[in-house]
Amino acid sequence: MSKVLDTQRERVFYTWTAQKKAAPLEITGGKGARFQTADGHWWWDLGSTTWNANLGHGHAGMQKAMAEAGQRGLVASPTAAFPDKARAGQLLAEITPPGLSKSFICLSGAEANENALKMARMVTGRNQVVARTRSYHGATLAMLSLSGDPRRELFEPGLPGIVRFTDPYCYRCKFDLQPETCSRECALDLETSLLEAGPETVAAVFVEGVTGANGVFPAPAGYFKRLREICDRHGIMLICDEVLSGFGRTGKWFAIDHEGVVPDMITCAKGLTGGYAPGGAVIVSDKIAGYFEDHTLFCGLTTYAHPLVCAAICAAIDCYRQDSIIEKVGPKGEHLGQLLKKLQSSRPFVGNLRGIGLLWALELVEPDKTPVAAEKMDALYAALKKRRVYTFRRDNFLYLAPPLVIEKAELDEVVGLVEQSLDEVFA
Ligand SMILES: Cc1ncc(COP(=O)(O)O)c(C=O)c1O
Repeated sequence: MSKVLDTQRERVFYTWTAQKKAAPLEITGGKGARFQTADGHWWWDLGSTTWNANLGHGHAGMQKAMAEAGQRGLVASPTAAFPDKARAGQLLAEITPPGLSKSFICLSGAEANENALKMARMVTGRNQVVARTRSYHGATLAMLSLSGDPRRELFEPGLPGIVRFTDPYCYRCKFDLQPETCSRECALDLETSLLEAGPETVAAVFVEGVTGANGVFPAPAGYFKRLREICDRHGIMLICDEVLSGFGRTGKWFAIDHEGVVPDMITCAKGLTGGYAPGGAVIVSDKIAGYFEDHTLFCGLTTYAHPLVCAAICAAIDCYRQDSIIEKVGPKGEHLGQLLKKLQSSRPFVGNLRGIGLLWALELVEPDKTPVAAEKMDALYAALKKRRVYTFRRDNFLYLAPPLVIEKAELDEVVGLVEQSLDEVFA
C-alpha cells in the first residue's frame, strides 16, 4: 500500500463503509471519461466519480478558473458582494425554467435540500413534507429522514411528518399496469397520500428529476404535469431535486425540462461545479423570492456562496455552454441506449434496462424475475474492477453514468467491457 493510502487509512474516515472494508483508489488525475491512479493505471469512469464529474476529468477550463479563483483568495463572507456571486445567480436564473429567479448558494446537495425544506416551511407555515418510497436527498439527519433509502433506517426516528408516495418503477409496477393501460397511477398516488396526511398540513413534495441512486426511474410522459396539478390544487410546493439528474445528465439542463413543468424550487449540486469544488444551490420562484423581501430568511452558513464555489459555478456553466456539452448528450444517450438494448437482447438475466441521456441502469434478475443474489453482484463488481471499469451498483442494479464528455467510440469500448464482465459472471 502507498504511503498516502496508509496515512489516510489511519487518519481520515471513509464514508458509507466499515473502515476495514474500504477499497480506496488513489486518483492522481484524469482526462475526459477516464481517471488515472497512482499505480499508473487508467480507469473508465462509468460512475462520473460520485455522479458529479459531468464535465469529465482534467477539464482545462475548470482547472484554469479554479486556479484563478484560488489566486484571488477571497475569504468566506456570507454577506459580501463580489462579481462571481452576482454572475452565478444570474447564470442559474438563465438556465433554470422561467419563473425561477433567485438562488441560495451552499456547499452540497443535502444542504440545498435542507434549505429548500426550511424555505417551504417558512413560506407555507406548514410542517409535513412528502417524498417517494425510493429516493435519496442527502446524508444529513433531516435529509436521510426524507429519503426513501435503506440508509435512513439506522437513524429513525428522524424528522417527524414525512409522508410517502410510490415511484414510477414501471418494471415492478405497484399497480400491475402495462404501458397501454397506465394513466400515471404512480403520480396519482401522491393525491392519495396527501388526502391521508391532510393536504393543508403539507408544505412541499420533494421528487428527484430522475430517481438516481435508488434505481434510475425516468418519469413517464405526463408524470410531472400530474404532480404539478396535484400540488397546485392543494397549495403545496413542488421541489425538484436535480442534484443527480441536473446539469445535462439527461440531455437537458434539468430532467424536469423534458416536460416543461416549472417547479417552485430546483435544488442542485454535483454537476453544478462538475466536482471541481464543493457546491449546491436552491433556485426559487419569483413568489418565494418575493416572500423573503419582507420576511427574514432564517437560513445561512459561514461558507454561504463561498468565492471558490461561485467561481466554480460560473466556470462550469460557461464550460457546458462553450462546448455545447448538454446538446450532445441526447445523441450520445441514444447511442448508449442502443448498445445496451443490443446487450440485453441476448442476455435474459438483464431483466430491465432503463435510462435517459447518460443515466442508465441494468436490473439483473433470475428467470423468475427475482433479483440476482448479492454474491453475484459482488462477482460482477470484481469482474468490472479487473477490467478497470469504475461504477456504482445497488441491490441488483448496475448503473452506467459516464461523464457527459465521453465520446461515442469510448461508449462502444466501455460497453464491451461491461458485456465481458456480465458474461464472466452470468453466462
Ligand atoms: C438526488 C440527490 N439528492 C441529494 C444528494 C446529496 O448530495 P450531497 O452528497 O452533495 O449532499 C444526492 C447525492 O448523491 C443525490 O443523488
